[in-house]
Amino acid sequence: MAITHPTSYNSIFLFLATFNFFFFFEYSSATYINVINYGANPNGQFDSTMSFLRAWSSACKSKEPSTIYVPQGIFLLKQVTFWGPCMNKIDFRIDGTLIAPLDYWSLGNSGYWILFMKVNRISIYGGTLDGKGPSYWRCRRGRRNCPVEARSISFSWSNNVMVNGLTSLNSQTVHIAIDHCNNVVIQDVKIRAPSGSPNTDGINVQFSTGVTISHSTIMTGDDCISISQGSTNVWIERIACGPGHGISIGSLGTNVKEVGVENVTVTDSVFTKTENGVRIKSWAQPSNGYARDIVFRNLIMHNVYNPIIIDQRYCPGRQCPHQSSGVKISKVSYEHIRGSSASPASINLDCSESNPCLGIKFEDINLTYLKGSAKSSCRNAAGNTIGVVIPRGCL
Ligand SMILES: *[C@@H]1O[C@H](CO)[C@@H](O)[C@H](O)[C@H]1NC(C)=O
Ligand SMILES: *[C@@H]1O[C@H](CO)[C@@H](O)[C@H](O)[C@H]1NC(C)=O
Repeated sequence: MAITHPTSYNSIFLFLATFNFFFFFEYSSATYINVINYGANPNGQFDSTMSFLRAWSSACKSKEPSTIYVPQGIFLLKQVTFWGPCMNKIDFRIDGTLIAPLDYWSLGNSGYWILFMKVNRISIYGGTLDGKGPSYWRCRRGRRNCPVEARSISFSWSNNVMVNGLTSLNSQTVHIAIDHCNNVVIQDVKIRAPSGSPNTDGINVQFSTGVTISHSTIMTGDDCISISQGSTNVWIERIACGPGHGISIGSLGTNVKEVGVENVTVTDSVFTKTENGVRIKSWAQPSNGYARDIVFRNLIMHNVYNPIIIDQRYCPGRQCPHQSSGVKISKVSYEHIRGSSASPASINLDCSESNPCLGIKFEDINLTYLKGSAKSSCRNAAGNTIGVVIPRGCL
């Protein structure tokens, strides 16, 4: 069921560009820093945090581009923030595994495990992160006193970020967090956490522009990818999502004043046994937020509970606001989407009464319900239908 799309050339080009990049480094006078020479120990017991920070400090001061190399082995890291700005670009090349401490209290309460802050031109190649989530999730489920959940790897206020070939396992919460960044490429990553694990989003993007996420496999207990407020120009391509809650825009409308989400494309992706396929969600309360110019194209659903869903009365907890969502949703296209739904509600648009969804487009959709006939439902939504749409479009 391969789908071809001309944009895959972009990734090939990127791949080649990255490749040349390496060779350039190998044969130039770039600074090459092996964390072992800074005292890091690959035995998985010794705390290598200070060694990594010393290696970072050398790289950050270097006027030449530098490569920080992490060889094979297991490196124990506590909370670590790699601060910029730095003098030149820095590559992390990781052959080993970075593990968080088993005792989640020793990560502190910052909400971060590995954080890159105010860095320009940072690339991570390879590596495995093990966030040691299970003990933390047990704490959460027991409703005991737990520290703030720590995202595994985060980039904040950074530009020109690349993450290539990373594997991230069992983060306490979001695996990869992009916040206030420009020009980010995430590709060939593998993310894995059990389907029941709480809040373990694969990748979260907020307040960022120019973000490409492609060729990745994401299996989690929450959203495979979530695009939150203030995200623009986001391109998501060739993602295998599931288990998990699908690819979501939102939750929006958390705040009365909010920067919206604009120009997001999700294409050439497959969803397997996820709770949702493509979802836009907002809280039912006043907000000046919005989601517009959104394209969902060339998608395959395998036994997905809600393949196409807009939920403007989103409320997973107990105290729901029960008002009308102020978030304006417009110009959303659903094109070439097929496969199976695990519930009869394969198309479900539940838009705001006060701000109906406008400019919705359905084109060439075939979603079947294995145990009966699939239904589509639209509340407060307007737009047009092109070509065959099964179940029959409700616009
Ligand atoms: C929308 O985002 C894509 C990248 O995902 C970008 O190439 C394109 O220029 C953006 N369109 C507009 C109108 O900004
Ligand atoms: C829709 O999908 C079903 C199941 O795959 C298939 O049997 C049917 O022929 C498709 N309909 C159209 C119009 O493509």
